[in-house]
Amino acid sequence: MAKEKKGPEGVPAASGIPRHIAIIMDGNGRWAQRQGLPRSAGHSAGAETLRRVADHCRELDVRYLTVYAFSTENWKRPADEVGALMKLLERNLIIELQKMERDGFQMRFFGDTGVLSPRLQELIAASHQLSDRIDGYQINVCLNYGGRDEIVRAARRWADTVRNGEENNLDEETFSGLLWTAGVPDPELLIRSGGETRLSNFLLWQCAYSEFYFTDTLWPDFTDETIDRAIAYYRSRDRRFGGLSAAGGGQSR
Ligand code: IPE
Ligand code: IPE
Ligand code: MG
Repeated sequence: MAKEKKGPEGVPAASGIPRHIAIIMDGNGRWAQRQGLPRSAGHSAGAETLRRVADHCRELDVRYLTVYAFSTENWKRPADEVGALMKLLERNLIIELQKMERDGFQMRFFGDTGVLSPRLQELIAASHQLSDRIDGYQINVCLNYGGRDEIVRAARRWADTVRNGEENNLDEETFSGLLWTAGVPDPELLIRSGGETRLSNFLLWQCAYSEFYFTDTLWPDFTDETIDRAIAYYRSRDRRFGGLSAAGGGQSR
């Protein structure tokens, strides 16, 4: 039997379904504008898409789904769009809170949520409390999230540890444990909808060895088949992690 290739964390690679999928859900605004609708209508449609996609990933046995909902840079948008997005998040979180325990899924939030409205912060705290009691499929919503911000915060926390004389031996694993994603394995697959081929400050540390799937499909138009195509692409990749291809025997000459 062929020896299974392992990723940096001993995760089975390039076989089957990714354990963790990350998605940059982009293209809501363009989707709405193409239909003569306000951008906020695109965000509402995008929220419905997330429900469908999350269900499909769960059916496929994906264990973690991490989605980019609002970046540290998205505050640059007009106040009415930001306001509409925050209201939408609030409404949807209230709905999901009713379902988490019944359906057995966790919902966690990564990012600087301390600056959000008190109501949203309350809902996020409730969601984390519930998630602590649930041992199932985990959806992570990145909200006021920036990859650089996450890394700088982790570095500050590390500096505090050193200053307090608690520890001074930093390695990659310890640093990973200081990020918002602590305890969550790195995504094997990163998907971006909406045609852009950039990271826009998403999961900079965690995507070191992820496979990237970019598609022009706008987020509200995403279907189960789009996810299936992304996974088929992932499965076709030869994940070498800096080593040699297993297909070539993995042997040096
Ligand atoms: C992604 O869609 C959602 C957020 C960034 C909140 P966009 O709103 O960026 O949609 P486009 O890229 O303008 O079409
Ligand atoms: C990335 O999309 C952020 C989210 C999807 C939440 P943006 O639309 O903000 O990214 P840029 O501006 O095209 O890089
Ligand atoms: Mg965009």
